[in-house]
Amino acid sequence: MRLFLRFVVPLFIAIGIIAYVVVPLMENLMAQWFVRDLDLRSKLISSTLDDSLFDVLDERSKTKIQSFFDRVKQDERMYAVGFCDKKGLLAYKSGELPTDVTCPATGSGELASQVLQEPSGPLHVAFHVIQGSGGTLGQLVLVHDMSFIQRRSAATKQYILYVFLAVSVIVAAVTTLMAWLTWRGWISGARALFRSNGFRHPLAPGTHPELQPIVRDLRELIRDLETDRRLRDDSQTTWTPRALKELLHKELSGDEVIVVSNREPYIHVKRDDHIEVQTPASGLVTALEPIMRACSGTWVAHGSGSADRDFVDAHDRVAVPPDHPAYRIRRVWLTEQEESGYYYGFSNEGLWPLCHIAHVRPVFRTSDWEQYKRVNEKFAKAILEEVKTDDPVILVQDYLLALLPRMLREKLPNATIITFWHIPWPNPEAFGICPWTEEILDGLLGSSIIGFHTRQHDMNFVGTAERFLECRVDRASWTISYGGELCAVNHYPISIEFPGRLLRQAKPVQDARSIIRKRYGLAKDCLLGVGVDRLDYTKGIAEKFLSVERLLELHPEWIGRFTFVQVAAPSRSRIERYRELGAEVRSTADRINQRFGSGVYKPVILSTHHCEAEDVLDHYRAAELCFVNSLHDGMNLVSKEFVASRDDEQGVLLLSKFTGSSRELPEALIVNPYHLDQCAEALHLALTMSPEEQRDRMRSLRGVLHEFNVYRWAGRMLMDAARMRQRSRFLSRVAATGWDTTISQ
Ligand code: G6P
Repeated sequence: MRLFLRFVVPLFIAIGIIAYVVVPLMENLMAQWFVRDLDLRSKLISSTLDDSLFDVLDERSKTKIQSFFDRVKQDERMYAVGFCDKKGLLAYKSGELPTDVTCPATGSGELASQVLQEPSGPLHVAFHVIQGSGGTLGQLVLVHDMSFIQRRSAATKQYILYVFLAVSVIVAAVTTLMAWLTWRGWISGARALFRSNGFRHPLAPGTHPELQPIVRDLRELIRDLETDRRLRDDSQTTWTPRALKELLHKELSGDEVIVVSNREPYIHVKRDDHIEVQTPASGLVTALEPIMRACSGTWVAHGSGSADRDFVDAHDRVAVPPDHPAYRIRRVWLTEQEESGYYYGFSNEGLWPLCHIAHVRPVFRTSDWEQYKRVNEKFAKAILEEVKTDDPVILVQDYLLALLPRMLREKLPNATIITFWHIPWPNPEAFGICPWTEEILDGLLGSSIIGFHTRQHDMNFVGTAERFLECRVDRASWTISYGGELCAVNHYPISIEFPGRLLRQAKPVQDARSIIRKRYGLAKDCLLGVGVDRLDYTKGIAEKFLSVERLLELHPEWIGRFTFVQVAAPSRSRIERYRELGAEVRSTADRINQRFGSGVYKPVILSTHHCEAEDVLDHYRAAELCFVNSLHDGMNLVSKEFVASRDDEQGVLLLSKFTGSSRELPEALIVNPYHLDQCAEALHLALTMSPEEQRDRMRSLRGVLHEFNVYRWAGRMLMDAARMRQRSRFLSRVAATGWDTTISQ
């Protein structure tokens, strides 16, 4: 309609102007031209006839004169011919000379002319003086019919109108077409712009190159505004469970939140004659559990406990935490064969060593890969059974579920899928070792957002996708355009609950100290160092023991005065490398204890029992130092838990430079786990550090946790998801206005 008003109405106005102004003007002009032509013609005729007429008149034969005029009259344009004698009387005529033609007085001999409007049409009358030898003979009267001029002018008028009409229609059509194409270009350009800021919608790379500079500028503008807003939101929010709840209520109100991970937060285990509820030693669980308490969603996970089946309802659901239910777990059951291929095989003998630089060779078996695919499908099926809406927010966790995002995307195209990769992502060469690199990447790129702990891991992932897939990477907006969909890549350093729930009920430091020291039989003047890890080769446990040994070599004054307790929760012990590791660290501890121990004194104590969170907290609070020595770690939450536990602002953290957390906690003593001398000196420094310096460092470290706690980690991801959903809804509304119904949502 708008196009019609814009282009067709002006066309009619132009036609009116032509018809009522231009055409009459042209008619007038043409009439003047024709009169001038007739003047000239008459002049020409009279000068041609001059001599012959003179002769004929001279003969004074009436018949000859009449026949002369009759011949002249034969000219098709000649209406009449006459002759006025020198007295001014009409002496001869041929044709119907109009009665109002009067002979003028003979003048200078110049031709005089006039136009008469007769009922038969306009006539051009010209008088020409005929001179004889004895002076003026009279005047020749030539009357031309001017009706042909009217006919011509009418025909010309018609032609002009037709031509103008045709030209106008063509111009209007071309203009309308151009305007429409430009408009379409703008709209799709604008859409591409929106999409490239985190949308999952199709982006046609390379279309409308003329819009690219504008699109680039607009993108940058939007990105800047978003970054500003994000920083503002981030810094103005004190991240607490309540703030997270409010965020969910405000930004994602009514939206379903589903978390999916392999490991479940509560495991029901049969112990002799009773049932125990265990919380696993998993950084992932530590981080996500408080989030789920805050947002009351559903957590889909593998039901791995021996008594898990006894505690679920008919739909395999159980409300947790057991004492104050706040959310529910949907348990997924795996067969022995599935668990073996998917969890032990492909995930933990393949991907885990592949992603960690710990010099353990990854093992990839086709049979494991088949189980991995099958189990990812099982998880997808369970999620589809849980979702109630077509656009839930799904938080997919870790390397065990890399194929899940694509599977979910196919069934729930409107879902917002945020995948968080909790472990490092190696460089493209290293990841390319996996025989199913493309499939893993394709699976992950079904996500709306992929999160890592550090920018380095973002870069490695993007580089890997670029190397192995047909995709387009935009490093300015950190998006990957693949198969017509956009996926944003961002880093969200994970953290812990701070201030933590457990800490509120924690024993006073002195009580924790006496309990733990008593448990390990420490002498009064013996200082305590702790380490808390899963028994995993990435954690650098043997290297910690060797560092303690080196400390005792370099600073023998610590013999008998320092003990290092390593809590090492058994993990993945069906895998040979893990069993070997257990044996290695045990024998290393024994060797060192034999070398430097005496009586009840042991420099190194290895505890390989499962330790519940309260007990771990006692260890942290009892220790003079905590040693985190990972050879490679995505983040490492033990370092953050130790800092969080020390509300007395005492204690020193030794932290491997190969952990993600070392970037956030620079006031720790940062060490290279491969450099034993350096680690030994760091231990010595920690043991001799003044309480003031300990306080200053600890205060600063706690400040970091205060600002960057786990609620902020989740909040940032959910805020990004909320923005994405807002934009998506906005675009849907735009499409609904009928701009272009070809938008695919
Ligand atoms: C790491 C992984 C988690 C895993 C945890 C414990 O933190 O990123 O996905 O849950 O280790 O390992 P487990 O194999 O016992 O679940």
